Amino acid sequence: MDFYDDLAPLYHLIFPNWNDSIRLQGEQLDALIQAEWPGHRKVLDVSCGIGTQSFALAERGYAVMGSDLSAKEIERARHEAELRKLNIAFTVGDMRAAHEVHGDGHELVISCDNALPHLLTDEDLLLALQQFFSCLRPGGGCLISVRDYAKEARGGNLVKHYGARVEDGKRYVPFQVWNFDGEHYDLAFFVVEENLSTGQVKTRVMRSRYYAVSVARLCELMRAAGFKNVKQAKSPYYQPILVGTRPA
Ligand SMILES: C[S@@+](CC[C@H](N)C(=O)[O-])C[C@H]1O[C@@H](n2cnc3c(N)ncnc32)[C@H](O)[C@@H]1O
Repeated sequence: MDFYDDLAPLYHLIFPNWNDSIRLQGEQLDALIQAEWPGHRKVLDVSCGIGTQSFALAERGYAVMGSDLSAKEIERARHEAELRKLNIAFTVGDMRAAHEVHGDGHELVISCDNALPHLLTDEDLLLALQQFFSCLRPGGGCLISVRDYAKEARGGNLVKHYGARVEDGKRYVPFQVWNFDGEHYDLAFFVVEENLSTGQVKTRVMRSRYYAVSVARLCELMRAAGFKNVKQAKSPYYQPILVGTRPA
């Protein structure tokens, strides 16, 4: 996936402090998982990216396997895991083929930070959710976090700011620009990089397309894939979290 391959070295800049976010997400996801599926501590993260939630849970003692479509993000996730001395098996893989890639018997499947809306049709979303279902052992849990598109304006030239970060003598200003086209939108992810000693400025742009799928539609698709007890979980997490369980 070119969008994320290009973004891989910069991805942490979307967080004011990536390590703080990893810690906080770990606390919140752990609390939610143990409330929903007590004792489940083995996770398959099927859209791990550079490793945010994989590290978050591994740092709390979970056994974690991670995969992602972007080879460059997986390369970075492996490197970051080594730096953190975390033992996580990372592989490149499409979540629409999660069962073929990872087999069955898993306790938990997670896909966080709005990865599913990269799938542009209900058919593809259902396919991915069916694959998550097949990966799970009976009683296993599926946890998904997504943007709440009901709260997002529709239209063109919609700018989403992240603020500015300073790292290694450079200021980075990442922001997104959205243009809606029905229930889909084209996203341009800009990163302005300013060298603070020379004043030199470089701008990169990466492009992708998303399906602004609603939380309600995703819940329906989770039920259609076979999950029971599908609901939006109560959590202080920064995005809605949907959970469902493979019946025992
Ligand atoms: C917004 S990022 C979130 C990454 C990670 N969960 C995090 O929070 O740092 C979305 C991720 O979904 C991945 N992705 C998109 N389509 C995918 C697919 N079909 N299979 C697996 N991963 C996919 C992207 O490569 C990207 O890493």
